[in-house]
Amino acid sequence: MIGFFDSGFGGLTVLRRVVEALPRYDYLYLGDNARAPYGSRSQRVVYEFTREAVDYLFRRGCPLVVIACNTSSAKALRRIQQEHLPGSYPDRRVLGVVRPLVEEVAERKIFRKVGLLATEGVVASEAYLREIEKLDPAIRVFQKACPLLVPIIEAGEQDWEGAELILRRYLDELLAEAGAIDALLLACTHYPILYGTIRRIVEARVEVLEQGPIVAAKLADYLRRHPEIERRLTRGGRRTFLTTDLTERFDRLARIFFGEPVRSRLVAFDREAERGGR
Ligand code: DGL
Repeated sequence: MIGFFDSGFGGLTVLRRVVEALPRYDYLYLGDNARAPYGSRSQRVVYEFTREAVDYLFRRGCPLVVIACNTSSAKALRRIQQEHLPGSYPDRRVLGVVRPLVEEVAERKIFRKVGLLATEGVVASEAYLREIEKLDPAIRVFQKACPLLVPIIEAGEQDWEGAELILRRYLDELLAEAGAIDALLLACTHYPILYGTIRRIVEARVEVLEQGPIVAAKLADYLRRHPEIERRLTRGGRRTFLTTDLTERFDRLARIFFGEPVRSRLVAFDREAERGGR
């Protein structure tokens, strides 16, 4: 299986596009809804939560895990790759979602000034500023932290008029600082759920980039370049969904994010708790 992880529902917007592009593989999705959102948590806590989740997906047999969460990708991925995997899981791989979006922005070669919406944690990490600068220092990036969006989306309130009001305020503040932009990067996997609202607010000439299709294309390319990983993936078209909180609620909201009915199971990262849980 290919493991997918997010603090909650956001990663489903990525998994949806990956499944469309690579339908033959088996996928195991884990949402840590009990502890979402991660966006305003410290680096230490995000690292610990993310490592626990990745270890859990490894124990369930995933040779490859995609961290479909920008907060975890920005704050925990590098440390997991550099410190955790070599000692504990040298034959497993973990990929994130920051790098694919950064590469896309640089490779397109048409963007000069981009805006970026993300959680507080991602903005404070400056991961996007650093990575875009490395690939193309001429691109200017203006970031805006949007701490209210993930809680609104996790509550299933994306169609509430308050969501649009809040989004307008974040975008007004971003554009007041940046002026005209060529592209708006949705650097949080929850935000595609607000795509329609965002599209209504920003000018039509501004390209709005979401990560799902970009990550799907990059993952396909990664698997072509890494046959030693690809060979270990099972191919049954199965999708399994796990959550650390209420399954009924997960299934109701996950349907919106994933675009298909979903039946989840409750898990705890801690093996003892899992045995006694449900
Ligand atoms: N989907 C996560 C991201 O992409 C949301 C983080 C959070 O839990 O705040 O950043």
